[in-house]
Amino acid sequence: MAEHIKKMMTEEEVTNKIKELGVLISKDYEGKEVHIICILKGASFFACELAKRITVPVTIDFMSVSSYGGGTESSGHVKIIKDLDEPIEGKNVIVVEDIIDSGRTLSHLMDLLKSRNPESIALCALLDKPERRVVDVDVAYVGYQVPDLFVVGYGLDYDQKYRNLPYIGVVEFDEN
Ligand code: IMP
Ligand code: MG
Repeated sequence: MAEHIKKMMTEEEVTNKIKELGVLISKDYEGKEVHIICILKGASFFACELAKRITVPVTIDFMSVSSYGGGTESSGHVKIIKDLDEPIEGKNVIVVEDIIDSGRTLSHLMDLLKSRNPESIALCALLDKPERRVVDVDVAYVGYQVPDLFVVGYGLDYDQKYRNLPYIGVVEFDEN
């Protein structure tokens, strides 16, 4: 089925929002260092732009996880595809994710990371779909709350496509 993308937030809006998040995080972590954990692949575009807007010292590491279980819903049983390169013990960690949907993946992942004894751990998501939440997760920093629609761009994909769009859009399916 063919699809097209309807623009939801412009590139300028997203850029400004990321700047705001950077300012907020820089204030909250004044006098400290921030260790960003970017969740591949979706959060990579957002994490890089966010890191550029943080004025306290930043280190960055990457993790790739997959939620497996039945069908299209994530089960929350997180399988680590690529683990972190560095230990996080004693670090002020910010987990950067593209979107929080059911919350299953992130809630499981946050528990796992907490068990590695970071100094602190917070979650930052570019997008949040609160209507879809099944498991409660504490999201400290959110770019935008979005309705229950399938969104792409700025790292988010539909069937691995559209990650490279510099704006955020909604996938709409054509009739024929
Ligand atoms: P959950 O919070 O465990 O249900 O899963 C979150 C993951 O589902 C995100 O990291 C995305 O990879 C994917 N996801 C959820 N909603 C969307 C969307 O609207 N567009 C693209 N990916 C999505
Ligand atoms: Mg993802």
